[in-house]
Amino acid sequence: MSADPVTEEPINADATFEPLLEAERAAAADAAHDQRARGVLRFYELAKKQEWQVRDLPWGEIPPIPETRAGASTEKKERRRAVWRSVITQQLQADELAVQMAGQLLNMAPHPEAKLYYSTMVQDEARHVEAWLKLATEAGGTAERDPHLDELARMTLEAETLEEKVFQMQVFFERLIIPRFRLIARSARGTILEDVCNRLTIDDGIHHSSGVAYERVLLEHASKETKDRLIKAANGLLPIFVEHALWRPKERAWIGNVMRETDIRRLQEDVTDGIRMASSLGLDVSDIRLPFAA
Ligand SMILES: [Fe+2]
Ligand SMILES: [Fe+2]
Repeated sequence: MSADPVTEEPINADATFEPLLEAERAAAADAAHDQRARGVLRFYELAKKQEWQVRDLPWGEIPPIPETRAGASTEKKERRRAVWRSVITQQLQADELAVQMAGQLLNMAPHPEAKLYYSTMVQDEARHVEAWLKLATEAGGTAERDPHLDELARMTLEAETLEEKVFQMQVFFERLIIPRFRLIARSARGTILEDVCNRLTIDDGIHHSSGVAYERVLLEHASKETKDRLIKAANGLLPIFVEHALWRPKERAWIGNVMRETDIRRLQEDVTDGIRMASSLGLDVSDIRLPFAA
C-alpha cells in the first residue's frame, strides 16, 4: 500500500445523474402541458435503461466491506465488522419492506403508465434485496432489525388510499435515503458496499422522481377529503419516524450517542423537506404537526 497522504476521492456515483435530471425536467414540462401521465412513462423508460444485475458487481475482486487495518486487535476488527453488518441489515430490512410496498403499488395503481413503471420498481427492490442478502452473507450474517422501521412500513402498507402510499413511500422515504447511501459509500471506499450504495442512489432517485410525477397525476383530481387524509396520515407517521431516525442497534449504540445531535439535525431537515415536497404538490400543510420545536 502506498503511503500517500489521504486525498479526497470523488464519489463514483454521479451526484447529479444527468439522465434522471433530464427525465425530471421533461416530466415537469409534461405536467405543465397537462400530460402528466407521459411524465410517469419517462421514468419507466429510464428505469429499463438503468437496470443492472447483482452479478455485475465485482464480487471476489474487491472486499465486500471495509477492512480494518492489519495491526488492529481481533476484538477491534470484530467490533468494526459488527458495525458494517448492522449497516447492511438496516438496508436489507428497508428493501425487503420496499418490495412489499412496490408490489402493492403495482396492484393498486389504476393508470397503465403507472403499472408499467411499478413493474420495474418491483424488480429494482427485489434486486436490492438480492444484493443486500449476498453482501450480508459475505460480511458474516445479519444483525438486529429496527422495530420502528417495521412499524412505519406497516402503517404505509395499511394506508387506505394510493395517494397516501405514493406520498409516504416514494415522495418521502425514497428521497431521504439517498444522502444516507452517499454517506455509507463515502466511508466504504473500494468495497462492494460502496458499489451497491452508488447504484441504489441512482435507482432510488428514479423511484422518488417517478413518485413525484405520479402523485401529481393522482392529486390532480383528488377530493379535499383524500388530501386531508394524506395530511392526517403524515401526522400519525411522523412520531414513529422520529423514533426510527434516532434508533440505533446495539452494535452502533456508542456511535448513536456521539451522533445524536447530527441525527436530530438531519431528522429536522428530512421532515422540513417532506413538508416542502407536500406543499409543492399543492397540499395544504398548515395542519402538519411538527414532531419537534420549530
Ligand atoms: Fe431499494
Ligand atoms: Fe427504492
